Amino acid sequence: MTPQALRQQLNQLKPLALGEFPTPLASLPRLSAALGGPELWIKRDDLSGLGLGGNKIRKLRYLLAEALRHKANVVLTAGAQQSNHARQTAAAAASVGLRAVLVLRGEAPHSIPDGNYLLDHFFGAEVRWAGERLLSPALHAEAAHLRQAGARPYIIPYGGSNALGACGFVAGLVELVQQAAPRELLFDAIIVASSSGGTQAGLTVGAQLLSLPTRIIGISIDKPAATFRQQLATLATETAFLLNSPATFAPADFTVVDSYLGGGYGVVGELERQAIRLLARTEGLLTDPVYTGRALGGLVDLLEQGTFAADARLLFWHTGGSPSLFAYAEELLA
Ligand SMILES: Cc1ncc(COP(=O)(O)O)c(C=O)c1O
Repeated sequence: MTPQALRQQLNQLKPLALGEFPTPLASLPRLSAALGGPELWIKRDDLSGLGLGGNKIRKLRYLLAEALRHKANVVLTAGAQQSNHARQTAAAAASVGLRAVLVLRGEAPHSIPDGNYLLDHFFGAEVRWAGERLLSPALHAEAAHLRQAGARPYIIPYGGSNALGACGFVAGLVELVQQAAPRELLFDAIIVASSSGGTQAGLTVGAQLLSLPTRIIGISIDKPAATFRQQLATLATETAFLLNSPATFAPADFTVVDSYLGGGYGVVGELERQAIRLLARTEGLLTDPVYTGRALGGLVDLLEQGTFAADARLLFWHTGGSPSLFAYAEELLA
C-alpha cells in the first residue's frame, strides 16, 4: 500500500484537526557523538501542540471525532495522578467544547497540585478519585452515574489505546514516511516508550501496511514482554481491521524490551536520571521521568550493549511527558 492510499483509509475515520502536525523530525548529532554511536534522530511528538503536547493528541484526533459523532457532551478517561494522557484529554476536550471527567488512581493528594495534575485544573477537568477501586470499574461506574444524571458520556479507554486511538499512530507512521522520503532518510529502527500499547501497535500496523523494513522497538514501561506482546497483537489486528486490511498480527511480530522496568511504574531510578540529564545537556531537550526518560535510558543501554550496527540510523520517537518533571523534582535530584 502507498502512504497516500493509507492516508485515504485513515481519512475515512474523519479525524479532528487537533494539535500541530507534522511534528518536527530532527537529528541528534551531539547525543550521537556523546554515545560514540550510530546516527540518532528524534520525532518530536512532545511538540504536538495542544496542552503542552505529547503522543495522545494523535489518538485523541480520532477518539474525540467519534465522541462528537455520538453526540457525547462529556468525555471520561482514567489514569495515574500524573497521567499525561488525562492532561491531554482534558486539553483536547476543552478545545472542542466538551466536558472532561478524569478518574485518577488513589486519593486526592494533600499537597498543592503540580505537574500534569495542576494542568488538568486549568483545562477545567473534573477529577474523581478511584480510591481503593481498580481504574476500569471506577471509570465505568462514573460513566453510569453521569448517564443517570442525564449526561451523554463517551469513554476513552486507558491510554487512549483501542483500535480507533491506535489509528492515530498509523497516521503518525505515514507522516514520518512522508517527511523522511524527500530527505532520503530510512530508519533501521524506531525506539519508543510503550505502556498501554496504542503507540507501538499503531506504528507497527503502519510499518506493515507500507511494507517498511524499519523495526519498531517498544521499551516497556510497566509490563513483562510475554503478556504485553499478546496484547499488542490483538490491538494491532483490530486496528488493521478498522482500516479495512485483512492483516493479522501475532505476538512474535512485536519487539518489546522489558529490561528497564526498574522499581515499577513511576519509580525513578538512576537509568531515568542519567538519560534525562544526558539529552538535556547534549541537545537541550527534555524527556520525562516515567516514560521517555526510561525509554531513552533503555536506548542508551542497548547502544552500550552493541545491539545496533555502528552505521545504523535510529529514530527515538519522543512521546512527550515533560510536564511531570516538576512533580518528580525530589526523585530526580536524589
Ligand atoms: C509520555 C508518554 N510516553 C509514552 C506513553 C506510552 O504510550 P502508549 O500508552 O500508547 O503505549 C505514554 C502513555 O501514557 C506517555 O504519557
